[in-house]
Amino acid sequence: MEDGRDVRSSVVASQVEEHRLYGGVVPEIASRRHAEAICGVVREALEQAACTLEDIDAVAVTSSPGLIGALLVGVNFAKGLSLSAGLPLVAVNHLWAHIAANYLTEPALEPPFLCLVVSGGHTHLAHVQDYTRMEVLGRTRDDAAGEAFDKAARAMGLPYPGGVFLDELAERGDETAFRLPHPSVEGAPYDFSFSGLKTAVINLLHNAAQKGTELPREDLAASYRKAVVDCLVRNTVRAAQETGAKRLVIAGGVSANRLLRRRLEEEAAAHGWAFFRPALAYCGDNAAMVAAQGFYEAQAGHFAGLTLNASPSF
Ligand code: KG4
Ligand code: ZN
Repeated sequence: MEDGRDVRSSVVASQVEEHRLYGGVVPEIASRRHAEAICGVVREALEQAACTLEDIDAVAVTSSPGLIGALLVGVNFAKGLSLSAGLPLVAVNHLWAHIAANYLTEPALEPPFLCLVVSGGHTHLAHVQDYTRMEVLGRTRDDAAGEAFDKAARAMGLPYPGGVFLDELAERGDETAFRLPHPSVEGAPYDFSFSGLKTAVINLLHNAAQKGTELPREDLAASYRKAVVDCLVRNTVRAAQETGAKRLVIAGGVSANRLLRRRLEEEAAAHGWAFFRPALAYCGDNAAMVAAQGFYEAQAGHFAGLTLNASPSF
């Protein structure tokens, strides 16, 4: 990564195929695969960028939040690299990295902006004040949006990662076929709650199975996707209106969702907000976005020492 915006190389080692066998991420397997892959991935990234460690100014690494075993592999590798190559170390928060994926896609984008971060583990609505400061306006009280998609998709018999397949299926369904709840959190209009909605779909599936019938999966996927997206859009639009935001940004794995992208684009156009979303290649987890955020952390003078530890929470 050069200057926080220019991706010199991006190498992604995916473990999705292996976790699919178990219907979700198995933390123990995730850590082991990270340990196996990390040396080769770093070497390949340097090769593809046609440079050596001599050309590198700093090493950035995700230190939180996430699966602790996988984070520890990255953090320890980065510390070793930093020590052996004499390079400064920069710790990056995973949510911040997802937000930075937008800088790779839209060179003109600069904070402040309102951002909806939606991933497998997080659903945050935040006012991003500058490159390293945010005010969290709302968050999920239970499941994250990606988790809600994945769990419902699993109950529908779709492969992991369910959100991706549910989104595809939903494109061919009737979103008005099933009436589903649109939970909100009383007294906290920017917070989200998806567990009741997820349970409603799982109950529909169980009841149908008990009667020996099958529900039209496309229609159920479309109705469910609409309900989740309705909740995300409802709170985001309200926050944008109440905070007077001029720019609206989405980030995280779920920002690849076709309906969410369409709906927020329409809302932004109707209200006169500029709308930004990451290129599909940078919606899911990748190192380019970590390096981009790392650049801005370094610019702000935020360096980590060799005592850096991984943390599972935000
Ligand atoms: O950001 P990410 O790659 O990993 C985490 O940090 O969690 O997000 C992964 C999540 C998964 O829950 C996955 O199902 C969801 O993003 N996802 C989608 C779509 N693509 C990925 N959810 C809905 N629609 C999609 N198109
Ligand atoms: Zn992520």
